[in-house]
Amino acid sequence: MNWMTRWPSPYPVFVDEAHGARFTDVDGIEYIDLCLGDTGAMTGHSPPPAVAAIAAQAAKGITTMLPTEDCLYVAEELSRRFGLRYWQVAMTATDANRFALRLARHITRRPKILVFNWCYHGSVDEAIITINDGVPGPKPGSVGPAVDPTLTTRVIEFNDIDALEKALADGDVAAVLAEPALTNIGIVLPAPGYHDALRRITRETGTVLIIDETHTICVGPGGCTAAWSLEPDMVTMGKPLGGGLPCAVYGFGDLVADAVHADWDYHAADVCGVGGTLSGNALQLAAMRATLQEVLTAEAFAHTIPLAQRWADGVQSVIDDYSLPWVVVRLGCRAEYWPRPVLPVNGGDAALAEDPVLDEYLHLFALNRGILMTPFHNMALMAPDTTAADVDRHSEVFREAAAALLQG
Ligand SMILES: Cc1ncc(COP(=O)(O)O)c(C=O)c1O
Repeated sequence: MNWMTRWPSPYPVFVDEAHGARFTDVDGIEYIDLCLGDTGAMTGHSPPPAVAAIAAQAAKGITTMLPTEDCLYVAEELSRRFGLRYWQVAMTATDANRFALRLARHITRRPKILVFNWCYHGSVDEAIITINDGVPGPKPGSVGPAVDPTLTTRVIEFNDIDALEKALADGDVAAVLAEPALTNIGIVLPAPGYHDALRRITRETGTVLIIDETHTICVGPGGCTAAWSLEPDMVTMGKPLGGGLPCAVYGFGDLVADAVHADWDYHAADVCGVGGTLSGNALQLAAMRATLQEVLTAEAFAHTIPLAQRWADGVQSVIDDYSLPWVVVRLGCRAEYWPRPVLPVNGGDAALAEDPVLDEYLHLFALNRGILMTPFHNMALMAPDTTAADVDRHSEVFREAAAALLQG
């Protein structure tokens, strides 16, 4: 991805090996990994149950375009966690979102999509749009948009109920594609009652509500959907689901399934814009089964969520001791600090506090002391193998960084 060109030093770190919550670079230096492949390795690197399942399945056939019995476990477990009955498999969360949008357009026969300002849902053309000086347009830096995204998409601020009502009033929006809390422009939490309004207005206007849990799976085994009792029509998710192997899913309930079945030309079902040859291959299903069964478990979250709180407390104590006008925010086993005095209420507000030079300084300061943070936000994610000592080491390093910053 082109973000690598913004890596804050002339050369990236080249990885030799990664295990659990740590990796070693080619110079033999070990790092505490709080980036965890920006959630792709939230399971820890190479979690043994997934590695064993992948190795066993690799020896028994990787891709046949036919289901294996692992499908049954994975679908039933996802249904249990998210309350949706039908699940399809994709290679990446980007693809899961693309396919979910296609199904939403198919069943509603509507052309438009609605997303939130400064969202990120992968390289989904419709979602690469921001409000620039009050005017919707391609997200700055977006590479070669196929069409002007304002033709396909409405973009509004998160947490703005009036804007949502207006944007859906014409009845031409097929789906709202939403993270339940924004996580890609810092963490922006929903205001009390916002999700109720989002569900009510999407239902009233016949708009499909797609909740993208790719990052918010950090909140617990069933993401925000389960933790906050959300009732999405569709859920999409990817990244850590296969323990690091490219795996993604999109799920839906009877309402969507019945609408799809009612309007499906079985004879013409061939290459219709949904799925891919390798989607749902046997290796993915084996990896997802092992990951759901033994890695992304309730017990794992019982360890990682308190660790994220410990991380946030450590950062907060430095902010307090140095009277920094900064905030720290936690969402499940993910936490982040921002150089701004209060939490942002929406993406546009959050973007105002972006400070690339400060970000680079803090990122590099931590990296030089053996800690990898997520690039561009100062975000930390906990894996089942992360320890309290790892978290306390970050607090120490953050204290040194703050002291050096204030002296300098
Ligand atoms: C919320 C969300 N959805 C989807 C994606 C896309 O994931 P991938 O790049 O694995 O396709 C991302 C990636 O950061 C994401 O944050």
